[in-house]
Amino acid sequence: SKQPLVLGIESSCDETGVGIVRGTTLLTNTVSSSMDEHVRFGGVIPEIASRAHLDAFVPTLQESLQAAGVTLEDIDAIAVTSGPGLAGALMVGVCAAKALAVATGKPLYAINHLVAHVGVGLLEASNGKSDAAAAAGVGAGPLGAGTLAAGTLPENLGALLVSGGHTEILRIRSITDDVELLGSTIDDAAGEAYDKVARILGLGYPGGPAIDKVARQGNPKSIRFPRGLTQPKYMGTAEEKGPHRYDWSFSGLKTAVARCVEQFEARGEEVPVADIAAAFQEAVVDVISSKAVLACKEHGITNVLLGGGVAANSRLRELTGQRCTSAGITLHVPPLDLCTDNGAMVAALGAQLVMAGIAPSGVEFAPDSSMP
Ligand code: KG4
Ligand code: ZN
Repeated sequence: SKQPLVLGIESSCDETGVGIVRGTTLLTNTVSSSMDEHVRFGGVIPEIASRAHLDAFVPTLQESLQAAGVTLEDIDAIAVTSGPGLAGALMVGVCAAKALAVATGKPLYAINHLVAHVGVGLLEASNGKSDAAAAAGVGAGPLGAGTLAAGTLPENLGALLVSGGHTEILRIRSITDDVELLGSTIDDAAGEAYDKVARILGLGYPGGPAIDKVARQGNPKSIRFPRGLTQPKYMGTAEEKGPHRYDWSFSGLKTAVARCVEQFEARGEEVPVADIAAAFQEAVVDVISSKAVLACKEHGITNVLLGGGVAANSRLRELTGQRCTSAGITLHVPPLDLCTDNGAMVAALGAQLVMAGIAPSGVEFAPDSSMP
């Protein structure tokens, strides 16, 4: 049967994304980011993000259609992120999608952003190595990288999503209707912790790439920072699972880094920025990878898809890859531009819904900033 041509719209945070897929084939992925406007504030300012989406939406849509060589008339369905995310930012994409759906008479699908991060792994084009992934040295080899076989989800699939907004381990039995949350952060997201610690260390914003870079010059063993929620009262035992066995907490770690910096300053010593960055990164990556692998082992998950902006982190890829390999789990890492927020992932999941014969959402739904 004919593969549906689906337009996907993403506006949950600072990226305005419009992507177009045909079934499981990626045609275009156009992204406009307002990050430059947030840098001087040291974080994403929701009102600025919303206004930037308003400015960027139409040009991004036009560029995406043009690059794919299609018109709105050709599109079979429209998909849009309806949550979770920033309320005002989501509203722009959802209103734009509804307007397009009403104007063209095309069916509209409301998409969960987190599930879309998983759906992107089904795209054939994501089997290729993007320039960004190639530069990061990822795409093949010991990480077990590469992505899922196009169009088919492996049995026993899990997803590890790590970004500025989410830190989650999911079990996916069916991408269209059975996604279970096994564990998540109880406070800050991992990317948020990177950003806050980078600020403490004076490394600027966004902090993830800066810490990743400077940490290469530091000794990760020079300081031991706490691994949140790893005590027996949280983890439980082999027989009885604790209440936070697969959950993470990063706010204590951030405080520990702040204390550590204060102590060096109080003693009048130079702050060893590279060592602190390396030790902080090691604590984050250690606890993310160990708990994710534990959750997978205890749920019979043998394939894990890595997603989110922090998937760019070299040490996270390395250690998670090693631990997955030791546990007999295959780690799948899509190209970086498909790991960060984009419209193609929304289109990819929308196409799955269309192909599964699932009814469209209509145009009455509201964006849900705290969608589970
Ligand atoms: O997925 P994303 O682009 O946006 C959302 O948060 O949804 O993720 C952005 C986050 C930021 O917190 C940024 O600091 C972090 O990903 N990040 C990194 C790296 N590159 C981006 N964190 C650690 N290491 C990196 N190389
Ligand atoms: Zn995201």
